[in-house]
Amino acid sequence: MNLVFLRRIITTSIGRKLIMAVTGLLLVGFVSFHLMSNLVLLNGQEAYNTYVEHLTGVPFLLFIELGLLSLFLTHILMGIYVRWEDYRNSPSGYKKRNWQGGRTIGSATMLYSAVTILIFLVYHIITFRLSDHSIGFYEMVTNAFRDPIFATIYVLGGLAMVLHLSHGVQSIFQTLGINHQKYTPFIKLGGWIIALTMAAFALLPLIFLFGLESHFMGMLH
Ligand code: HEM
Repeated sequence: MNLVFLRRIITTSIGRKLIMAVTGLLLVGFVSFHLMSNLVLLNGQEAYNTYVEHLTGVPFLLFIELGLLSLFLTHILMGIYVRWEDYRNSPSGYKKRNWQGGRTIGSATMLYSAVTILIFLVYHIITFRLSDHSIGFYEMVTNAFRDPIFATIYVLGGLAMVLHLSHGVQSIFQTLGINHQKYTPFIKLGGWIIALTMAAFALLPLIFLFGLESHFMGMLH
């Protein structure tokens, strides 16, 4: 991709929306993978620690993490810009916006769910990624989940993910032009299924908070 093409994308409104859609899609891929990784917690200490050590041992990890960071940053910065642009172009502000896919609770609360996820993410990176891992990943995560305040923050983060993706996934398809009378209901349904799956981010801390993990042990083999 040459620089002129990149500049053309960034400097047009549809180009910026396309960037949001593509980074959003890649982030959906990351969170789905991350969610599956987190479910390994239900297989117990040994399984989870072995799994995470395996993951953190992949080559070029730093480059993968930097790629992920740039995805998040691009999505967030473009989101702020697109929002501001919509606000500036609409005399009565954002309220009159024509939502892609109609107005739903997810579309109406996009900004709030985005801010909640961002706050959650900063807290999450500080407490899990940049913290001391010497006690083991399983112990670090499950000790944290047994703390009601910590668990509450995770539940709120998980619910914000559900809300954000309930509109976000179908919006990606609309922006990419994948829009057909016949397929749109399936795209909407698929978007809701992906969004509802994110509720597992909120359920995991609750399972450990209420000491229910033994009921799930071995279910995911
Ligand atoms: C049940 C909820 C979650 C659990 C148990 C969990 C667990 C973890 C753990 C243990 C790490 C550290 C891995 C390491 O140090 O290498 C991590 C990193 C990370 N998590 Fe989560 N996570 C959860 C939810 C989320 C959500 C909802 C998001 C996205 C919005 C997210 C995004 C990230 C990112 C971006 C990283 C840094 C990745 C890296 O540097 O390798 N996590 N998570």
